[in-house]
Amino acid sequence: MKRLLTAAVLAGVAGVLWLRRNPVPCPVWLAFVLENPYVERVAGGAALLDRAGVRTGMRVLDVGCGTGRVTVPAARRVGPAGEVVGLDLQPEMLRRARRKARGLSNVRFVAGDVVETPLEEGYFDLALVVGVLGELRDREGALRAVHRALRPGGLLSITEVFGDPDYRGRRAVRELGESAGFRYAGEAGSFLSFTVNFKKPI
Ligand SMILES: C[S@@+](CC[C@H](N)C(=O)[O-])C[C@H]1O[C@@H](n2cnc3c(N)ncnc32)[C@H](O)[C@@H]1O
Repeated sequence: MKRLLTAAVLAGVAGVLWLRRNPVPCPVWLAFVLENPYVERVAGGAALLDRAGVRTGMRVLDVGCGTGRVTVPAARRVGPAGEVVGLDLQPEMLRRARRKARGLSNVRFVAGDVVETPLEEGYFDLALVVGVLGELRDREGALRAVHRALRPGGLLSITEVFGDPDYRGRRAVRELGESAGFRYAGEAGSFLSFTVNFKKPI
């Protein structure tokens, strides 16, 4: 029994280490890990919108929106004068997100890789990147694409949630944002879920 347990722990650790070197998008069958009481408690949609300073009328890009867990509350918060675009690689994630967003006219979803998808340049006030960083094959390329899509003075808000196998630490997040041309603009949250905000220089 003890050997079995040790083998399971070692396999788990090896799996996490492999994932950190070989990023893969969170499979759709694991979507339930995005929406559960723990994630809701430490990184619920409303709290993340507060951390990012989402307000009425904003144009928001939700990169790697998954099932729309944060996209839909964002659309409600920006209201009819604002707009939210949820972008994700996986059409099946977007199918779930669209279902959740039924009835909202200020949200649209785009399928594609953030690095390759043409986005309106200088269009968005804010980009959210929640639990996505570690899954990106080309992190710098992704943040540069987000940089182009934001208006001068626009905000990038990156959140990481502990428990995610590809969780990145605050320092790594900050370095990455700055290397993509953003200016550090503060942070919030705890070890369990932190948000680092950046500004695109004017
Ligand atoms: C862990 S989920 C997080 C979903 C959502 N942000 C949330 O907090 O519930 C990460 C999502 O990022 C998407 N993703 C990964 N790499 C991507 C890329 N290069 N471009 C667009 N989406 C990507 C995955 O398909 C997945 O749905």
